[in-house]
Amino acid sequence: MPTAARNLLTDNPALYEARFRDPGRLAGRWTEDCLRRHGAGARVLDMGCGTGRDAAHLHGAGREVTGADLSEAMLAHARAHHPGPEYVHADLHGFDLGRGVFDAVVCLDSALLYCHTNDRLDAFLSSCRRALVPGGLLVTEMRNGAYFLGRTDLLDTPTVDAFTWQGTVYRSTTTLTVDRTAQLLRRRRVWTASDGSAPVEQRSAWRLLFPQELRHLLAGHGFAVLELHDGPGPRTEPPWREGRLPGATADADRLHLVARLTTPH
Ligand SMILES: C[S@@+](CC[C@H](N)C(=O)[O-])C[C@H]1O[C@@H](n2cnc3c(N)ncnc32)[C@H](O)[C@@H]1O
Repeated sequence: MPTAARNLLTDNPALYEARFRDPGRLAGRWTEDCLRRHGAGARVLDMGCGTGRDAAHLHGAGREVTGADLSEAMLAHARAHHPGPEYVHADLHGFDLGRGVFDAVVCLDSALLYCHTNDRLDAFLSSCRRALVPGGLLVTEMRNGAYFLGRTDLLDTPTVDAFTWQGTVYRSTTTLTVDRTAQLLRRRRVWTASDGSAPVEQRSAWRLLFPQELRHLLAGHGFAVLELHDGPGPRTEPPWREGRLPGATADADRLHLVARLTTPH
């Protein structure tokens, strides 16, 4: 069984929620808005569902939700703290949860970019194509590879963040580098905690995926792009609010995609 790379935050879901707070459930509301505007049916798969916050929001909005993740810690947290959806273990690098059983697949906060290679992207999109009904939707939100063309502001200096959780101050120093050959944004993060524990170093990476490349991949897997833009979205500045419609550019650091399966297998 494949296992997710060890990661302080995904191994400690409560800490993850404390670090990436979303009290207004903006990501869930934005996703529901996309699903509603494009007339999606009720059955939704949230791939890389993490702590289950967004899956539970969609369940609360009346949808029949399956949340899937590779991290058993995330799944256990989701079942305990965000009940309603069914939570299952699945790998976004290739999954089979049935044929034509979902009206939409959602994949939020750059989870799609854990598909580092073209083979893995193909496997993810093939899996979505199998899982979706004809006309089903793919809704995803992630970093925008194109942002890094000619911009170095996120690469020049390490970012230092601190937050307090259950009386302990956690401090992270994050350095991003671009691996042009692999087309990856590599992240090195060092954590220290005020409880005296030893520093933890973690490395991860996201695929640098470009808007035109994404359109080409989607077309090859039978999807028509309905929206592909840099905001507003749940993680843009200013953030999305109800009633705000998608923009027309794909230049800023977040990419939002809604695509419809027009050519099923
Ligand atoms: C940045 S978090 C996003 C979580 C959630 N979608 C959200 O927006 O809060 C990425 C999630 O993807 C999961 N993940 C990483 N690699 C995966 C894989 N190959 N298959 C399924 N889930 C994976 C991690 O365990 C983690 O929960």
